[in-house]
Amino acid sequence: MSYVALYRKFRPVDLSQVKGQDHIVTTLRNQLAKSKVGHAYLFTGTRGTGKTSTAKILARAVNCEHPTPDGPCGECDICRGIADGSALNVFEIDAASNNGVDNVRTIIDGVDYRPTTGRYKVYIIDEVHMLSDSAFNALLKTLEEPPEWVIFILATTEVHKLPATILSRCQRYDFKRISIETIVDRMKELMEAEGREADERALRYIARKADGSMRDALSLLDQCVAFQAEGTLSYDKTLEVLGAVDTEIFSRLYRGIINRDTLGCVSIIDDMTMQGKELTQFVTDFVWYLRNVMLVTASSEASKMIDLSTENMVRLREDAGMSELDSVIRYIRVFSELVGQIRYAAQKRVYVEIAFIRCCEPRMAIRDPESLTDRVAALEKKFEEGSFSYAAAPSSAKSDEPVIRQDIKMPEAPKALPDDVRKLIENWPGVISDCANDMMGSVRSCKPVLGEDGKLILYFPSGDMGARMLNNPPLRDNLSEIFEDHVGSKVDFSIQETESEEMFDGGLYDLRNMVKPGTMNVPIDTEENMEDF
Ligand SMILES: Nc1ncnc2c1ncn2[C@@H]1O[C@H](COP(=O)(O)OP(=O)(O)O)[C@@H](O)[C@H]1O
Ligand SMILES: [Mg+2]
Ligand SMILES: [Zn+2]
Repeated sequence: MSYVALYRKFRPVDLSQVKGQDHIVTTLRNQLAKSKVGHAYLFTGTRGTGKTSTAKILARAVNCEHPTPDGPCGECDICRGIADGSALNVFEIDAASNNGVDNVRTIIDGVDYRPTTGRYKVYIIDEVHMLSDSAFNALLKTLEEPPEWVIFILATTEVHKLPATILSRCQRYDFKRISIETIVDRMKELMEAEGREADERALRYIARKADGSMRDALSLLDQCVAFQAEGTLSYDKTLEVLGAVDTEIFSRLYRGIINRDTLGCVSIIDDMTMQGKELTQFVTDFVWYLRNVMLVTASSEASKMIDLSTENMVRLREDAGMSELDSVIRYIRVFSELVGQIRYAAQKRVYVEIAFIRCCEPRMAIRDPESLTDRVAALEKKFEEGSFSYAAAPSSAKSDEPVIRQDIKMPEAPKALPDDVRKLIENWPGVISDCANDMMGSVRSCKPVLGEDGKLILYFPSGDMGARMLNNPPLRDNLSEIFEDHVGSKVDFSIQETESEEMFDGGLYDLRNMVKPGTMNVPIDTEENMEDF
């Protein structure tokens, strides 16, 4: 007999086997018990969560000769007829391949005639969002007033593509992503039915990878089982079969960051690119690795919650011992931001490299207070190694080690003159690119203007959140420091809102016309120019 994939072999046959959708199962049970079924259902939700299976169960349940609380009996002629496809009253249409108006007409033409067997004619239209406009219109007419013997069950993963006219005529059921727990339990059941054993951790790993889809979980399980024909399905084997990106690479990258080995990190990325690895996925996985490092750094008990082979776990523990929790959290932040940035970027690799450089060289993030931890650690290390001393202080200015500005008492800077302000405004793109991420958005949305009194005014479109954000003392002080870095004097500034839209069109930089409207080059990593970068 040919091999049948697990997810097909174990398609739920009644409501008791539909897992993780209790809200839907309960409602359907009640309707069936009271014989109050609707005439148009819409099943939505991610793939592999049970929409088609439930539609088939419902189609049998309404026709079954001896229905049970779980739906169809599975034994009567009608149940069997539907199961083997010989019954003439259940119609399954895949709208993905039959999306034209003619396809819909063919179906609908039969609607007017009572079923010859069973009570209802049930039309299951899968991937209904694929129907063409005219096909929808044809369907709509029938949905408006279906004959009493007709039930439509529409299923789709993309409910937002359906016209409101269709939505308003259906009872809608949202199929949820299925929890890891529920998926693991189901897999255990099926493994038992198959006479196989599996490590709990192996099943958990598969369930996590399936991301809420039972079908994906079962396909993955299939791969693992096929690979390991007998014996207990072990955790290490599972990792191997599913080609989990070798965590050793992540560990090497992590150590590269700790040792400030920018070049090493960049060359690993080079290798990954050569191997054709998808960088967004790669960075996502690296964030997950860092998360594991973080958990183990925070508590050694955490290893239980982490999916790693024994060998890799040893390495992870070593990694966790190498850094402060704060630093790890900072890396996680840098790389999670990166995931969002590179998703649609053309030059992903450049962004990935920048992120590694940011982590390797804490000075690059000089205004990011979190990088202080790294910079202090670097200094401490230098002290410990004896390569840093007060006597040598004058030469330390040339040293590569980070200098901690906060430690140095700076003399009060002179107040800025209008010329300084003008200089600052002319170099506004530079100011923006010096801002830390949490501030950059706000600074970008304002227009710097040299006021009548020679002072800087930051104008925000009225109601803009940026105005409120920048008025916060920490951000305000931070910005003030950036200004000072740029012009060498203390720039007083006010934050104002304006209704004037022209102000943001370009042009009006300077109420006294002292500054010519400069070209506002947007710095490299803005969202707007990400695509064509
Ligand atoms: N909620 C669920 N409970 C049990 N098995 C499920 C569930 N959802 C999906 N499956 C498994 O995945 C397979 C495909 O499910 P299906 O109902 O076609 O998903 P959908 O139509 O939502 O994409 C089923 O045959 C079954 O093995
Ligand atoms: Mg389906
Ligand atoms: Zn039956």
